[in-house]
Amino acid sequence: MRALAWHGKHDVRVDTVDDPEIINPRDAIIKITSTAICGSDLHLYDGYIPTMQAGDVLGHEFMGEVVEVGAKSTLQKGQRVVVPFTIACGGCYHCGKHQYSACDNGLPADNQDIAETLYGQPMSGLFGYSHMTGGYSGGQAEYVRVPFSDVGPIVVPDGVEDDKVLFLSDILPTGWQAAEYAQIEPGDTVAVWGCGPVGLFSVQSAFLMGAERVIAIDHFPKRLELAARFGAETLNYKDDKVYHALMEMTGGIGPDACIDAVGLEAHGFFGDNVIDQIKASTFLGTDRIHAIRQAILACRKGGRVSMPAVYGGFVDKFPLGAFMEKGLTLKTGQTHVQHYMPALLNAIVEGKIDTTFLISHHLPLENAPDGYKLFHDYQDVATKIVLKPGLARTEVHMPA
Ligand SMILES: NC(=O)c1ccc[n+]([C@@H]2O[C@H](COP(=O)([O-])OP(=O)(O)OC[C@H]3O[C@@H](n4cnc5c(N)ncnc54)[C@H](O)[C@@H]3O)[C@@H](O)[C@H]2O)c1
Ligand SMILES: [Zn+2]
Ligand SMILES: [Zn+2]
Repeated sequence: MRALAWHGKHDVRVDTVDDPEIINPRDAIIKITSTAICGSDLHLYDGYIPTMQAGDVLGHEFMGEVVEVGAKSTLQKGQRVVVPFTIACGGCYHCGKHQYSACDNGLPADNQDIAETLYGQPMSGLFGYSHMTGGYSGGQAEYVRVPFSDVGPIVVPDGVEDDKVLFLSDILPTGWQAAEYAQIEPGDTVAVWGCGPVGLFSVQSAFLMGAERVIAIDHFPKRLELAARFGAETLNYKDDKVYHALMEMTGGIGPDACIDAVGLEAHGFFGDNVIDQIKASTFLGTDRIHAIRQAILACRKGGRVSMPAVYGGFVDKFPLGAFMEKGLTLKTGQTHVQHYMPALLNAIVEGKIDTTFLISHHLPLENAPDGYKLFHDYQDVATKIVLKPGLARTEVHMPA
């Protein structure tokens, strides 16, 4: 089959690789109809995530048709399913608490050591996201093997098009969980750093949960415009000093809740960010944590900080003093996708949540390397890219 493989920093290629096969009785094989590129994929593309190997198939946001099932799968051939990016067993202590991304059995035994050393305990498996998260082949491919297919995938009704439900695989539940973790109370002001797909779904979710005001922060005008479409006030950090602007907009109090939807590759010419960048490029550090630093300083005393953004390693200049003295709460984590899927699918079918506004490009899977370049280099125009297997390669022109 054809699949997008990682070969190194800024080097991804569509290769011909072996078709996946059923290995365990709970597996299913899915024929991919739509798959998306995520901000998390950019961390792989930029070479920031350890334990990648040349030839690893990428992709953790995908959906398609069930074409093969193991003896213990509960799926049936022909069903259309969306697959969560977190691979979880459904039966362990954590899955019992619906904390699927903390599953104890998502990683093959051989892959548990690295995560245990780095994080204390292994977490759930992830599709197409390094050997530390299981070394599973991803879904930016024609076919994918889905482990624990009796737990993860959700069957979608016929007639609901792919673009409406594809983002149930990750970014919609992630934006929703981010807003839930911000513990929004009616009347709250919520600030969201980053207007990528996760930030934009956090904006939409925050309003649905009763926020009175949402302030969205980024530097890409088109992305800020999308946030404004949902009623957010916007701050372009190139024009406004974010901390001072937030104070002014909240009567000197600060937002009640702050959501960091930026992550380890924060942009911007800020002193702390430049130092982080130098450290990351000389292997003295891993993460650029400017957004979470700013969120902690700007948040009102006694407020909540929610961090859906991905960070990987150890950081310095984390404002622990401000965090403690101001009595803040921080909640974070990979999304417990399986927990949120059923209710969010209903919300989509009932027309309460729109997901299609985000998609800027549909491209053949064969053009996936162009898609990565677009999403990486032209973020203002490329807000979300959906790849379609089975289509012939076309000419893609990069924006001027
Ligand atoms: N927790 C989870 O399960 C989960 C799931 C999906 C994605 N993520 C993470 O969420 C983050 C966002 O994902 P995405 O797909 O929206 O990515 P993205 O790269 O499309 O968006 C990030 C946005 O942040 C903006 N940004 C950069 N620096 C900024 C700054 N200093 N201040 C304000 N905005 C700034 C960028 O301009 C960009 O628009 C990533 O770290 C991704 O890995 C986490
Ligand atoms: Zn994703
Ligand atoms: Zn489990």
